[in-house]
Amino acid sequence: MSTGEPTRTHPAWLPVEAFRAIGSRRTLVRGTGALVDTVRDEVAGACARFGGTVTHLPAEQRQRTGEHDGPYDLVFALGTAGPLPAGAAALAAEIGPGSEPDGLGPEGFAVARRDGVSVVLADEPAGLLHGLFHVVRLGAAAFGADIAVRRHRPAMRLRLVSHWDNVDVHPVMGQVERGYAGGSIFWRDGAPRRDPDRVRDYARLLAACGMNALTVNNVNVHGTATRLLTDRLDDVAAIADLVRPYGIRVHLSVNFAAPFVLGELPSADPLDDDVRAWWCKAAAQVYERIPDFGGFMVKADSEGQPGPARYGRSHADGANMLADALAPFGGIVHWRAFVYNHRQDWRDRSTDRARAAYDHFTPLDGRFRENVVLQVKHGPMDFQVREPVSPVLAAMPNTRLAVEFQATQEYTGQQRHVCYLGPCWSEVLRFAPWGPGGPTVASVVAGSAGDGAGDGGASAGGGLVVVSNVGDDRYWTGHPFAQANLYVAGRLAWAPDLDPLAVLDEWIELTFTPSATGDPELLRGTLHALLDDSWRTYERYTAPLGVGFMVAPGDHYGPDVDGYEYSRWGTYHFADRYGVGVDRTRATGTGFTGQYPQPWADRYEFLETCPDELLLFFHHVPYQHVLHSGSTVIQHVYDTRFAGVEQVVEMVRRWQRIGTAGLVDPALHARVTERLAEQLRSAEEWRDKVNTYFLRKSGVPDAHGRRIY
Ligand code: GCU
Repeated sequence: MSTGEPTRTHPAWLPVEAFRAIGSRRTLVRGTGALVDTVRDEVAGACARFGGTVTHLPAEQRQRTGEHDGPYDLVFALGTAGPLPAGAAALAAEIGPGSEPDGLGPEGFAVARRDGVSVVLADEPAGLLHGLFHVVRLGAAAFGADIAVRRHRPAMRLRLVSHWDNVDVHPVMGQVERGYAGGSIFWRDGAPRRDPDRVRDYARLLAACGMNALTVNNVNVHGTATRLLTDRLDDVAAIADLVRPYGIRVHLSVNFAAPFVLGELPSADPLDDDVRAWWCKAAAQVYERIPDFGGFMVKADSEGQPGPARYGRSHADGANMLADALAPFGGIVHWRAFVYNHRQDWRDRSTDRARAAYDHFTPLDGRFRENVVLQVKHGPMDFQVREPVSPVLAAMPNTRLAVEFQATQEYTGQQRHVCYLGPCWSEVLRFAPWGPGGPTVASVVAGSAGDGAGDGGASAGGGLVVVSNVGDDRYWTGHPFAQANLYVAGRLAWAPDLDPLAVLDEWIELTFTPSATGDPELLRGTLHALLDDSWRTYERYTAPLGVGFMVAPGDHYGPDVDGYEYSRWGTYHFADRYGVGVDRTRATGTGFTGQYPQPWADRYEFLETCPDELLLFFHHVPYQHVLHSGSTVIQHVYDTRFAGVEQVVEMVRRWQRIGTAGLVDPALHARVTERLAEQLRSAEEWRDKVNTYFLRKSGVPDAHGRRIY
């Protein structure tokens, strides 16, 4: 239990101050179960610091003694916990589980305040835990004016953080693949890290933003990581024990060829009886050790990872074999749709990587078991700063789909640049593939999009997966502001209709303002000024109009306009002396626009209706093409790059003022200052290299005569 204890690491959105309101009140916790104990311990830790009291009695005991009738300021109660003290009882009867035909669900809670008592009710212990963190977010407001009854249930059942942590240090990717926050919190040099405080604190942060699952290892499973499933299972169980008190389940990335790679069978063919039996046994062993184990995540037949194709089998054959092994225990297979030809010939203009996931997977719709979730990156390429929404998310009504986001900022500044991704993810979740007013991506992955007619369990939804941005860095995420990305991922998974800027405000309030002396509003205003539009700022000085990539090959940081142009990765911009962009139309291009339902299939197809920000994703156009904004493409390239750098200059200036005013911890201020300096240097490099490249290609000068090299 870490509430109230000084942490070695930055407390992120759970500083002790965030518990002041709860910790100075009289609280009753009613109910039994491990997560109820967590609620009690959290409140007790806060009370020890701020002078309040907590009473925790299982129902029977209270009935027997008749004691402890309060008064209380705050009551947490499970629906099954028996009679409540007078003040809370009436409210409980009104808002309680019985008041709704289908109850509050396994993680839902109801909250209200009247006559000086705040009440949180839940059907299950996990609901009480989420209710606790809701009260933390409310802060003093939880104990002020009356609060009308409100029921909260997560929109998505599966809200998972995917760690790309390697167990062994990978010779190229290091301890954490695409990690920008130091080493792994779980593993070091092939061995478990054994830093229980850190892992527990992490689970607590995840629960507080609404997550309920994590994978402990990279989707690229090599070396020792393959054995986490077998003789290194104890290492996984140790992590599961640490995160369980916060309602977080552990999942494992597995090597599809494990029985073969481990030398136990001559094949990994998913239709081979011995292979199937091997997986059944492996799953049974896992559940014996970790009864609440979540399931397997699989990257198969992708970027060199083994998969069913090797045996002439389909993705459905592969996923279903694992699903059958997990089904008796309630486990889930997260099967990734990130499958494409990574040995493409750049000379071949007919192959389009953007098409790949749809072409591979949509023919399999309806063929996956109910406990298979197909995990789809939000865009058709690879987490670029701007991509259209993946058409796969609108094309598999009979499959449970999850959307995958990337908090680790591989292509968005690598946690050296400020880039708050909440607005980007919110756009994806709100996108309506069948047109305005129709179902959204959020409803597809929540399982509420269809009419329930689809079988294959699609109505259960696959939820949201976010690739972790966390490491053993003191601030968890390298750039302290990158914490906001993990926070918003959890909050949007719980409630995708939240305004991402309101979530940012919540994060600021929890993380910074309680301890801010002086002028908290100046601090809040500055943080909003730095973060609100930072995703679009990053887009402005890097890759314009949906063109993507143009990054240094390998590490993906910094500009290299032609870095991938003649490579095998399928990521091209086709700039020549006349124009730029990829023709993905049905009329003259790769036909990718045809993977969308209407109205998008036509909106993207035609220049007249294609949104500016995605123009070069869908079309190859001359530099003098006029955008809807009125600017030409080439002038837009120049203008956005200059504007983006100016915005970073302004960010630096504003942050300096915060330092002078002493509004944040000096160490944190210094860390952000150092990162902002690098962001500015890098933004200038992007501006100058991209502008120079396009000036040289096009020969069109900047209308404003600014300096281009
Ligand atoms: C990107 C990233 C890889 C990662 C892959 C994936 O391509 O560069 O490091 O393995 O995505 O999502 O599997």
